[in-house]
Amino acid sequence: MSNRIALAGQRMLITGASSGIGCATALAAAERGARVLMVARRHAELEKVAAEIAERGGTAHVYPCDLSDSQAIDDLVKEVLDQHGGVDVLVNNAGRSIRRSVRKSVDRMHDYERTMRLNYFAPVRLTLGLLPAMREQHFGHVVNVTTQGIQIHTPRFSAYLASKAALEEFGRTAGRELAADNVTFSSVRMPLARTPMITPSESAFRGIPALSAPQAARLVLRAAHTRREVINVPGARVLDLLDVATPSLMRRLVHRFGYRPRTEPETDQS
Ligand SMILES: NC(=O)c1ccc[n+]([C@@H]2O[C@H](COP(=O)([O-])OP(=O)(O)OC[C@H]3O[C@@H](n4cnc5c(N)ncnc54)[C@H](OP(=O)(O)O)[C@@H]3O)[C@@H](O)[C@H]2O)c1
Repeated sequence: MSNRIALAGQRMLITGASSGIGCATALAAAERGARVLMVARRHAELEKVAAEIAERGGTAHVYPCDLSDSQAIDDLVKEVLDQHGGVDVLVNNAGRSIRRSVRKSVDRMHDYERTMRLNYFAPVRLTLGLLPAMREQHFGHVVNVTTQGIQIHTPRFSAYLASKAALEEFGRTAGRELAADNVTFSSVRMPLARTPMITPSESAFRGIPALSAPQAARLVLRAAHTRREVINVPGARVLDLLDVATPSLMRRLVHRFGYRPRTEPETDQS
């Protein structure tokens, strides 16, 4: 990516920075001059990323936190506000995916609850905690990492996709409300990316093109730079158009090619 995306001096809080897309985003943002605040559960992994950033001359701070714990999020917000006064860019990236058919989920309501806890309630809580300082400084941008799956409605991902659709809607609604405060929201509809998240389902994704983590990070930084409401990869808009123009055909195609219970074993990802 060109260095046109300058983030010099911006305080950028990135959740899920210990691995995959969040880690690549932290490295790329620091390279462009951002002061990165990295959040995840694994302290040692965060320290490794921070050391790499420092080695390259950047600035990073680590905040170990389990985002599925509401009190821990409130404590995190307090610590960040005390130490930095606020953030300019918040990247809600930490997430969990569950790949399990609805048929196999009938006695697993907890899958839906734990997915919502991390993918929806945690970023909403963090955003609300940091919002007053953004409004006060009359600047803020929130990047929500969602997924292209919400345009395909990919079979076996009902818990995961519902949580990401909720997050996108929260951001779009909040962004239209907060425009006068100069607080904006982007939803990055991330396509498949080769990260530890997809390892459990590798056989199901075989042959499907996937971004590298640094390529995925570029989409996140593009969102931070352009502040556009939705970031799609090229061509993804076609999926929306097809869904509107030929919904029955799309349902048949996605069912036929995306859900093959007879030929594909039910490998769960959780
Ligand atoms: N990879 C893909 O194909 C793909 C496609 C579309 C969207 N996405 C989205 O992209 C985002 C990043 O995923 P990734 O592919 O980079 O996966 P990843 O490598 O598995 O990273 C997930 C990150 O979330 C953090 N995390 C998980 N649970 C947490 C918790 N309870 N509290 C705090 N942090 C937690 C993990 O850190 P710790 O384990 O250290 O806590 C890790 O840093 C996710 O929101 C995912 O839904 C990914």
